Order: sequence, then C-alpha cells, then structure tokens
Amino acid sequence: MRGWMNEGKSYIPPVGIGEVMRAGGIGRVVASTHAKFAPGQLVSGSLGVQSYATLTAEQAARAGLVKIDTRLGTPTQWLNVLGMPGMTAYFGLLDVGQPRAGETVVVSGAAGAVGQTVGQLARIKGCRAVGIAGGRAKCDWVVNELGFDACIDYKAGNVRAGLKEHCPKGVDVYFDNVGGEILDEVLARLAMKARIVICGAISQYNNTTPVQGPRNYLSLLVHRARMQGMVVFDYADRFPQAVTELATCLKDGRMKSREDVVHGFDRFPEALNRLFTGENFGKLVLQVADDVTGSR
Ligand SMILES: NC(=O)c1ccc[n+]([C@@H]2O[C@H](COP(=O)([O-])OP(=O)(O)OC[C@H]3O[C@@H](n4cnc5c(N)ncnc54)[C@H](OP(=O)(O)O)[C@@H]3O)[C@@H](O)[C@H]2O)c1
Repeated sequence: MRGWMNEGKSYIPPVGIGEVMRAGGIGRVVASTHAKFAPGQLVSGSLGVQSYATLTAEQAARAGLVKIDTRLGTPTQWLNVLGMPGMTAYFGLLDVGQPRAGETVVVSGAAGAVGQTVGQLARIKGCRAVGIAGGRAKCDWVVNELGFDACIDYKAGNVRAGLKEHCPKGVDVYFDNVGGEILDEVLARLAMKARIVICGAISQYNNTTPVQGPRNYLSLLVHRARMQGMVVFDYADRFPQAVTELATCLKDGRMKSREDVVHGFDRFPEALNRLFTGENFGKLVLQVADDVTGSR
C-alpha cells in the first residue's frame, strides 16, 4: 500500500488522491443479483478500504471476488495464510527460492504476515529456518510457537554475529522482506549458489532519499548466487493449489497463524503506520464492520 501511494512506474498503477485505497478484504454479501453470490455469503477480493463495496459483475471479476470456505480457515486466516501474504510466502519461497531439504532459509520480517508462513513452510520442506525480527517477544514466538530453528533480534544488535552463529554453513535461501542494512548483512553470509528472493524492502518505503542499494552485491558473483524479485499477482492462476496445501497444513497443525486485528475504519492511518514501527504482531487486519464471523 505504501508503494501504491507513490507516483511513478511500478507493477501496478498508483492509487490516486481521493480514490478508495486498494486493499484485499473479506466481506459479507448484503445484496446481489449475481448468480454466483448470494446475500449472507462471505467473499474475499480486492474490496478496498471501505465499509461497503458496490461491484458490477465485471468489477467483481477484476477484484478476484471469490466465496471463502470457513471450513478451511477463519476469515482472518483467509487474509493471512490462505490469502495474499500466504500466497506470497508460498510462491516466493518455493518457486523463486527453490529450497532443498537440509538447506538454511533465512527470512526477515519473520513474525509478520509473509514471514511467519515462509519460515514454517521452510521447516515443512525439511529446511532449517532462521528468522530475523524486531524484539524478544517476536523472536520467542517464531521459535517457541512456530518452530523456527532460531531467530535474530535485529533491534538488540548484531545481525552479522547472529547469522554467523545460526547459519554456520551460510545462507542458502534469503527471503527478503526488509532490504537495507539487513540485506547487506545476509549478502555477506551467503552459501554457494544461494538464492535471494526480493519480496519487499519495508526499511526503504518511507525514504525521502534514494533507496539504499546493496553494498555487498559482489557476494552474488563470489557465491554464484542469484537475486530475483517476485510479485504475488503473477501466480494468481495457481492460488487454488497453494490454498489447498496451506489449508491442509493449518488443519493438521503443522502450521499456525497469527493475526493482529485493529477495530475501526477511522483507525486505518494509525494501523498502516504500525507496519513501519513494527507494532503489528502477525498479519495486520483492519476490521471495519461489526460482524464478520460465520458464513452461510
Ligand atoms: N512482492 C510481493 O508480491 C509482496 C506481497 C506482499 C507483501 N510484500 C512485501 O513483504 C513485506 C512484508 O509484508 P507484510 O504484509 O508481511 O508485513 P509484516 O511483515 O506483517 O509487517 C511489516 C514488518 O516489517 C518490519 N519492519 C518495519 N520496518 C522495518 C525496518 N526498518 N527494518 C526491518 N524490519 C522492519 C516490522 O517487523 P519487526 O517488528 O520485526 O521490525 C513490521 O512488523 C513488505 O516489504 C511488503 O511490501 C511483497
């Protein structure tokens, strides 16, 4: 969302001033003349930051509107593991990162929406998972609750020493959510043929100066490594496959999820800012209606 507020070329046009902020959401159908959607049903799609979305059939298709099955996950999980962040984790890690059992996967923003699923999926695929997160509470949670092998608290100090301790054979896959200094520290610790997934660079989004590029990029040369960007929307036709696998992992207990729900439409700006201070703990969700539970 922060990127969509900037002018300039990106993977999707910016949101104009005065337009509804683009956002994935879960909603309940209030009224419908569409054959596929009946009043009372829970749906997900690009509904925007608003209390009510009015969509023509064509707009509904463009918004990716689908019914959600609450037997597979709760509505908030449909915004997290079974939604856009989970899809980002799944395809970013598996398609771009291509982890192999026994390898070491490092993920920054480890306790966030994307990060929590990346680390757990890495473990499920037989890898060592090492998180990087801000603060003891988040690090303890990803290790003790989610089963990561280790987590480095970057706010407590030395990321380099933490990587040396927890990645003695180097980093095979780095899933980067934050960019900046942390990306440079991981570049300095790559294993041969490492893969770096450029998912995001949240440390840079509010810069008023140019984005800080990686100083240590020659490590890619030394280690015959590659660094590749990914955009989740490119994988839309394969989302059902990922939802099936991730829902199975949730059901059989191999995967957990955490959502951080802020109540109240008016709190949107404050909620958005939490992502940049790290005050969110898990997938940040803004709840704008009173009742979102249950489905018909
Ligand atoms: N490429 C794609 O298709 C795609 C799709 C979805 C998301 N993304 C990107 O993925 C990243 C994670 O998104 P999310 O929705 O899962 O957010 P999130 O991780 O739930 O929340 C953002 C987290 O970033 C961390 N953070 C903020 N400022 C930081 C800084 N200066 N240095 C280090 N960490 C910082 C904070 O955690 P700490 O408390 O640990 O600092 C914060 O909780 C973002 O960069 C986002 O843009 C990309």
